[in-house]
Parts: sequence; structure tokens; C-alpha cells
Amino acid sequence: MSKLNMKVSVTAKAPVNIAVIKYWGKQQDKLKIPINDSLSGTLNMDDMCTTTSVLIDETIKEDSLYLNGEEQNLHESSPAKLMIERIRSMTPIEELSKMKTKIVSNNNFPTAAGLASSAAGYACLAFALGHAYGIQDQTLLSKIARAGSGSACRSLFGGFVHWIRGSDHDTSLARQVVDENHWPDMRVVICVVNDAKKEISSSLGMAQSVKTSPLLQYRATKIVQERLETIKNAIIERDFEKFAEITMKESNEFHAICLDTFPPIFYLNETSRHIISICHLINQYIGQTKVAYTFDAGPNACIYLLKDFVPTFIGIINHFFPLVDHNSSSMVSKSLHIRGRPHHEPSAIDINHIVDHLKSSNVRILQNSIRYLISTSIGGGPELVLSD
Ligand code: PMV
Repeated sequence: MSKLNMKVSVTAKAPVNIAVIKYWGKQQDKLKIPINDSLSGTLNMDDMCTTTSVLIDETIKEDSLYLNGEEQNLHESSPAKLMIERIRSMTPIEELSKMKTKIVSNNNFPTAAGLASSAAGYACLAFALGHAYGIQDQTLLSKIARAGSGSACRSLFGGFVHWIRGSDHDTSLARQVVDENHWPDMRVVICVVNDAKKEISSSLGMAQSVKTSPLLQYRATKIVQERLETIKNAIIERDFEKFAEITMKESNEFHAICLDTFPPIFYLNETSRHIISICHLINQYIGQTKVAYTFDAGPNACIYLLKDFVPTFIGIINHFFPLVDHNSSSMVSKSLHIRGRPHHEPSAIDINHIVDHLKSSNVRILQNSIRYLISTSIGGGPELVLSD
């Protein structure tokens, strides 16, 4: 970064994170202080990330923000505008405190997929703005990201990250549990589900749950803390069975809270429920927990699994969720497209007996209900790409 002729330009990238202990509900809306602690895995930025460029220049008259090519409305109470103003008011470089900024942000994964892009987006915005305005304290930037979108505070760190709920802006903060090198065999496969329906946003959904769900209050006071300690230990000890059990129970409980909300919220669809059944049947058949599903505020499945099981899992998913072109005379089914990490093909022997078991358990084939897969791993926190 240089201050010569009063021009600063910074480009940074930041990762997506997928919670295994879910954040759902705020004690305080504006600063997004949550009702309970949460914990997530940070995904590898080679496969999924947001890239944000911040330009500060004397000639810029108004703050502006472009997201995937579209200019956003930066009204006075928008989280992005509040974030810009907050960081600008904290800059140690006096000349910059009066200068406006142009921000351009893009995701390297389709935003239309309904994947939690706001966490990567706000984490990247806080990180890039912070570095442009001369603020580099990661914990401080994480708190600023939290005020944009709660879960974004966890994307400021790599590996597995614990968001301590706290009770105000200073005490509600994210901390790294282990870094991205701690559990090198951990993988994540995301099944991007075909679903045209627009879901109720997470912020509206959680506000409704806080108002109406007694289960949310019970979970926050009686369940989360113990689970959090257990899953932290499972991560430290690389105990996949324990990790997987809590991950699945947490996802189910979060969606139970959605049902307990009045009127109820439905984020899962038929395909999501089908994936849940398949995961349990695979684990039962093998007699060992091989896959753990988790779902956020939408129908896409995030599967945590170990590296050696990725080809088998993808083979099974391809069998039960084939892509079929009904316009073609041959009606041949195609394998799903996989973005991200390459993997070797499973041998037919590997998957045939599992597929047969699932078929004998009446698992149906759902054509064209998964659009594609993303195969990724646990990755590091935000990085500067360019700075001058
Ligand atoms: O930060 P938000 O408002 O996008 O909320 C995220 C909520 C969940 O994704 C459902 C759970 C979580 O902890 O990430």
C-alpha cells in the first residue's frame, strides 16, 4: 500500500465457511450478537472464494460497491455502508479518513446456487477495506465482518473456527480452534440442489424463530455448549465418528427449530431429505460413520467426509441423482459435473454393493435433482492478492 498521490488499491480474497454448530438467532440485531456459540470449517479458497478490490482515490466522489458486476444500493443503513464508515472512522492514516472508495467484489462460484456467499462476501469486504485503510488486526476485522453478516466473522480465519457469542461488540468474537493443516484428510462435498423456490433469508428466518420457537431457547441454554466442547475435542483428536454425529444432529436440530417457528420455515426439500437418508444408509451398511451431512438456510447438502471416501460417495450420488436429457432420443444419463478438487474414479466393486443395499432399502433414483457437485477441503483464512 502506498500513500503517494493519495491513491490506495487493495485486492483480497476470503473463504466460505460451513457451520457444524449452527448460528441461528440474535440477542442484538444491529451488531449481530448471536444467542448461541457456533463452530465452522473454512473451505479452501482455490475452489470457492470471494475476491474484492478496494480503490481509495481523491477523485472518487461517492462510495460505490459492485457485486458480480451489479452496482449495489449503498443506502445509509446498509451493512456494507456501515462497514465502510466504521473502518474509515478507525483509520490511523488521517488523509484517508476523508476519502471515498470504489469496491468491486466477485465470487468464483455461482451466486445463484444459493450457497452461503454472504459470509465470504462480508469477510472479504472487511479484510480488503481494513487493509486499504491501514487496519490489520484480524480479530478486529472479524468483529467488523460480523456486523455485516453474523457468520462472516468465522471466515476471517482458516481451519475450524469457534464464534464465542459474547454479549456485546467487544466480547462476541471468532477464534481459530485448529488451522487448515491440522486435519489434512478432511473433505467437503457440496451437492448443489435444483430448486427454483426462493427461501426466506437467514436474517428474517432467524428473527421469526427467536420470536416464536421455544426449541431455539432450549437449545441455546441446554444443548449447544456441551456439543461445542465435544466437537472441539473431536476436531482436536481427529475423531471423525464423533465429529460426524454432532454435525448431523446439529443440522437436524436447526431444521427442527425452523419447523418449530410459527409459521414454519422449510429450507429442506425432497432432494435434501433423500440425501439425508442415503447418508444414514451408507453409514449403517458400512457399520462406521463415513459421511456427515449439514444443511444451512437452503436445500443444498454439505457433506463432511474423509478423503478416502470421496470417490465412493460421489459414485453413489451419481447413481441416485443422474442427469438425464429428456429431449435426447437415447435418454442416456450423464455424471454430475464436479467443480473443485480432482479425485480418482471409484471402482464399480467399491460402490456396487452399497448401491444394491440402498436399492433394497427402497432408495429411489431422482433424476436431474442435483445440478452439480463442488469437491473441496478445509482451507486458510483471507489473503491479500494485490496491494499498492
Ligand atoms: O450469517 P447469516 O445471516 O448468513 O446466517 C447464517 C446461518 C446459517 O448458515 C444457517 C448457520 C451458520 O452458522 O452459518
